[in-house]
Amino acid sequence: MGNDGDSLLAEQLAYYRARAAEYDRVYAEREDLRRLSALVDGLPSVGDVLELACGTGRWTRAIAARARSVTALDAAPEMPDIARAHTASSRVRFLRADVFAWQPPRRYDTVAPGVVAE
Ligand SMILES: C[S@@+](CC[C@H](N)C(=O)[O-])C[C@H]1O[C@@H](n2cnc3c(N)ncnc32)[C@H](O)[C@@H]1O
Repeated sequence: MGNDGDSLLAEQLAYYRARAAEYDRVYAEREDLRRLSALVDGLPSVGDVLELACGTGRWTRAIAARARSVTALDAAPEMPDIARAHTASSRVRFLRADVFAWQPPRRYDTVAPGVVAE
């Protein structure tokens, strides 16, 4: 990725880091996000699932209800901490990782993409 792309990604990550503590509020404010979460609940997230850009774990809970295991990653260190507090499941493992640099150590049955670029 070029310099422009790198700085855009860095700016985006800084934005989410700054908003981490209040991020869940968008779900109270936006009907479309609540509808999207309901759709995630209906997806066939089976087996060992990799969730990219898990944020505060709003989708992780729904995915974990169907999956054998969930590896949920996010680059913002604040996000997995908040998500962990929301998602009490021994089947979920949260990782802090940059999706563009991280090398998966294994194959997954399902990959659930979060929104990394809006
Ligand atoms: C729109 S939020 C989506 C969170 C969650 N999927 C949801 O819908 O509630 C985007 C997330 O992408 C994360 N993110 C941004 N850049 C990333 C990167 N390079 N690698 C991994 N996660 C990243 C942010 O920290 C943020 O939590």
